Amino acid sequence: MLVHIKDIVKKAQQGSYAIGAFNITNLESVLGVAQAAVKANSPAIIQVSESAIRYMGLKPITHIVSTVAKNIAANVPIALHLDHGTSFDSVFECISSGFSSVHIDASSLPLDENIRLTKQVVKVAHGRNVWVQGEVGAMVGGHGNIRGKLKKIPLASLEDVVTFVRETKVDTIAAAVGTAHGVYSNEDIVFSLLKAIKKSIAIPFVLHGGSGVPNGKIKRAIREGVNIINIGTDLKVAFCQALIKTCLENKDETDPRNLLKPTIKAVRKVVMEKMKLFGSAGRFIVDDTET
Ligand code: G3H
Ligand code: ZN
Repeated sequence: MLVHIKDIVKKAQQGSYAIGAFNITNLESVLGVAQAAVKANSPAIIQVSESAIRYMGLKPITHIVSTVAKNIAANVPIALHLDHGTSFDSVFECISSGFSSVHIDASSLPLDENIRLTKQVVKVAHGRNVWVQGEVGAMVGGHGNIRGKLKKIPLASLEDVVTFVRETKVDTIAAAVGTAHGVYSNEDIVFSLLKAIKKSIAIPFVLHGGSGVPNGKIKRAIREGVNIINIGTDLKVAFCQALIKTCLENKDETDPRNLLKPTIKAVRKVVMEKMKLFGSAGRFIVDDTET
C-alpha cells in the first residue's frame, strides 16, 4: 500500500530500526523492491532521483510506484520520496505529483543559502502535508561507481547541522558523516560525529551512500539511531550484472521479458538482504486469518 513516509519512519524511530530508501531506475527495479517488501514483510521507501525522472518521466514514475504499491504490495507500506532534488522547481513538481517526501539538496551552497532555499521548500511542502529532507555537508562520489578510493571524504560540521535543523524545521536530516555515493574502499562512518548529531537533534537521521559500507558499521549506525538508509549503487550493480549475464547466455532471445525477468529477482534479493540487515524485515505481518 502507498503510505505517507511519516507513518513508517515514526514507527522505525519507536522500534529502533532503519528503513531502506531504495533508488529505482525502471519498472523492473520498482517490482524488485515491492516484491522484497512483500516477502520480507517490511516497509520500504522507494526513491527517485532527478535523473530517474528524466529517464522515465515524473507522471509515469509516480503512477508506476503507486500502482505497484497498491497492487503488488497491498499488505506492506511503501512511501514515495524524491532523492537529491536540486531546485525549488523540481521539488515542487514532485510535491504536486503526490510524493509524501522530498529531499532538497542544497548542500553544495554556503550554509546561509542552503538554509534559505530549504526554508522555501519547507514552507510549501508543509502546507501540503509533505515531509522535507535537508542536507548539510555535500556528499562525494558518484552513484553507480564501484571502484577505487576517494582522495578525501569531507565531513559536515556539527554546528552547521544543528543550526540548519533549527532554522529550516526539516523533518529528516542527511549529513556527510564519512560515507560516499558509490562503493569505495575508504568510505566509513565517523561514529563520533554521528553520535554528536544524534545527541543534538531529535529528527530522524538519513544515512546516504549506504552501498559499500560494511554490514557491521551499518548495524552500529542503526544502534546509534539512524532510521533511514539510502541504497542506490548496490541495486544498479545487481540489475546490470543479472542483465549482462542473461544476455550473454541467451544471445538469440527475442522476448525482452525473458531477458529482464532475472533483473527483478536480482534486485529483490539485494533489497531483502538489506531489509534483514536494517531490522525492518518482519515488521508488518498481516494476519490472513482476520476477516
Ligand atoms: O541518494 C542515494 C544514496 O545516497 C545512495 O548511495 O549509491 O552509495 O548506495 P549509494
Ligand atoms: Zn544520496
